[in-house]
Amino acid sequence: MSTAPLDVLILAAGLGTRMRSGTAKALHQLSGRPLIAHVCRTAISLMKTARPIYVVVGHQAEDVRQAVRVEVGESGAVFVTQSEQHGTGDAVMAARDALADANSTLLVLSGDVPLIQPETLAALVQQHRTHRGRGAACTVLTVRLDDPSGYGRIIRDAEGRFERIVEQKDATSEERQVTEINAGVYCFETRSLFPALARVQPVNSQGEYYLTDVPGILRADGEDVSVYLHSDAREVSGINTRVELAEFERLLRFRTLRVLMLNSGVTFIDPHSTYVSPEAQIGRDTVIYPGVHIEGRTVIGEGCEVRPGTRITNSRIGNGVEIRDYCVIVDSDIADRCTVGPFAHLRVNARLDEQVTIGNFVEVKKSRLGQKAKAMHLSYLGDATIGSRTNIGAGTITCNYDGVNKHSTIIEDDVKIGSDTMLVAPVRVGARSMTAAGSVVTEDVPQDTLVAGVPAKMKRKLVGGPPDAPSAVPPPAPDEQGIEEATTNAK
Ligand code: UD1
Ligand code: CA
Repeated sequence: MSTAPLDVLILAAGLGTRMRSGTAKALHQLSGRPLIAHVCRTAISLMKTARPIYVVVGHQAEDVRQAVRVEVGESGAVFVTQSEQHGTGDAVMAARDALADANSTLLVLSGDVPLIQPETLAALVQQHRTHRGRGAACTVLTVRLDDPSGYGRIIRDAEGRFERIVEQKDATSEERQVTEINAGVYCFETRSLFPALARVQPVNSQGEYYLTDVPGILRADGEDVSVYLHSDAREVSGINTRVELAEFERLLRFRTLRVLMLNSGVTFIDPHSTYVSPEAQIGRDTVIYPGVHIEGRTVIGEGCEVRPGTRITNSRIGNGVEIRDYCVIVDSDIADRCTVGPFAHLRVNARLDEQVTIGNFVEVKKSRLGQKAKAMHLSYLGDATIGSRTNIGAGTITCNYDGVNKHSTIIEDDVKIGSDTMLVAPVRVGARSMTAAGSVVTEDVPQDTLVAGVPAKMKRKLVGGPPDAPSAVPPPAPDEQGIEEATTNAK
């Protein structure tokens, strides 16, 4: 049995012509992450010791390197550049000098086979190392496909032993009948691989150096080549076209939803139109309506309702929250029992404390609303801190931008901001104060004060507690009647 340490080499230099894209195939997204990231995660999980993985890059090399680093960290990968793509054999050859350990067992993976599981690879390596008691020079991962078109075929001899791989484009019509295909995943003894690879010639219909010629060369030399025939065809199939990419996306999406339904107790009214990132968490008895997108590392609590057409990205939602139709919620934090929407936009660090209500056409950015605060209609709240139980009337705007800088607005507890109030920041409105409808507030408003007008001036003091209490505000003077009505309209 071979006890050589394991190295992993991922081939990801190709453009992926069949994608018909300006973007390298390795960077196309599957389930919210680049294809290469899926393969890297699997590869890393196989490494018993902290050895870096090797990645061959070429097309859009810097972007591919970056995608790999995001997944495995700065020192998790060694990059090899294949500046011109002359085939998979040429790609492996490009890594020869970089491979630190000439006596390793080398697991070669394709950057476009993203669903392959660590257990499958571990079994492949195990068979490779124990083949005939001493280990093989090479082991090829194969699978039988109903429709093998496009793949390299496994040609076996009369005794059923591996003989060689023939690419679809070079195969005779008889060879094309073979349904056992090469998955593009192999184990090699590094010391056997490179001498054989050096003998590969680009004499084929594509004029490329085929890595797939190496097992045949080793076999012809009398070395041991084994075949690991895997049963799950889906898992080891590659992505070559956008049609295949879409099929994989659907597969992964449903896998994620199944786990959430079976293990987490989440209801999806229509799983076929619902998109949930595999990194998201959702609590039990939460109901997700059709057309909802839950992206990134979003966490949603228990007993929530997310109504149709809403997108939630990298946000935290507490328990018992109702998100109504067509909201966009990004990088935000919503505490228990809040109600949001329909048609609300929360972005960049919007923070809602418990039982806050955000209504239609309200945009909240970098702002915090205290417990039971309400902004029900047509408002922009940016760079604002809003106190508990404060009511923001319809059409209120925090004028936070003076053309050069952003400024903050502070509205304390139990304030009533009248409809169509403009708060020209920086500005502060003291606790229990009120602004009349149409006020333009340019200066700080003290506590317990009613202001009105453009610019807003103090009308009178409000005494005796929060304006919620009917007795708190003395009946308005005749000239304030209109103001009072508009204000109260905006509850
Ligand atoms: C390859 C195999 C085929 C197998 C199939 C399985 C060869 C010649 N053929 O075909 O037998 O059935 O995978 O999916 O190997 N790459 C480079 N540099 C290059 C060329 C390719 O890094 O010069 C990388 C690609 O980025 C990709 C991988 O190697 O990640 C496979 O290349 P691709 O062109 O997709 O090979 P297939 O035609 O699918
Ligand atoms: Ca491929």
